[in-house]
Amino acid sequence: MIRRLGPANVAAYRTLRLEALRSHPEAYSSSFEDELKEPTAFFARRIPSIFGCFVGDTIVGTASLVVATGLKLRHKGLVVGVFLDPTHRGRGLARALMEAVIEAARADGLVALRLGVTIGNEPAERLYRALGFRQYGVEVDAIRVGGVGFDEALMALDLE
Ligand SMILES: CC(C)(COP(=O)(O)OP(=O)(O)OC[C@H]1O[C@@H](n2cnc3c(N)ncnc32)[C@H](O)[C@@H]1OP(=O)(O)O)[C@@H](O)C(=O)NCCC(=O)NCCS
Repeated sequence: MIRRLGPANVAAYRTLRLEALRSHPEAYSSSFEDELKEPTAFFARRIPSIFGCFVGDTIVGTASLVVATGLKLRHKGLVVGVFLDPTHRGRGLARALMEAVIEAARADGLVALRLGVTIGNEPAERLYRALGFRQYGVEVDAIRVGGVGFDEALMALDLE
């Protein structure tokens, strides 16, 4: 049910991603308006980092593991783009996606995972805490949506 996306999934990923950004603008630092303008190649470039949750042939959720290639940065990963289609929420699918990301990060020899979550996004904060992520900081006014500022909790999971 959880597997890495491939070239065949670009169009479906783009549709789900734009829906995530449109329906939850306060949950992501990327915006619907910006990504709507991007060409297919923009979404295709991201595909290797994305884990998809499949129900049959349909992608209903995503989580991405981004690892910088630089010599001084490649020991840690950043988790972004966590989203579950609303009709499939509350069944443990996001947890399963996150567990797959954590397992892949361990297998790749990473020592830590980081992520940011908008303060007040209770389902996401609880999910990450339940998986062992701990808050190490806060970025005040991290994003602005329609002129309203949102703070972001910076969280990390030690994999060692
Ligand atoms: C956050 C999100 C991915 C959770 O997806 P999900 O499939 O419903 O989550 P799961 O069913 O795997 O639940 C795992 C844990 O998440 C937390 N959680 C999920 N839904 C919750 C809710 N409505 N209220 C509180 N906690 C919730 C709980 O800790 C839960 O564990 P439990 O069931 O043992 O209590 C989903 O709500 C979503 O896509 N939200 C909109 C986008 C978003 O905010 N993404 C995160 C950006 S950082």
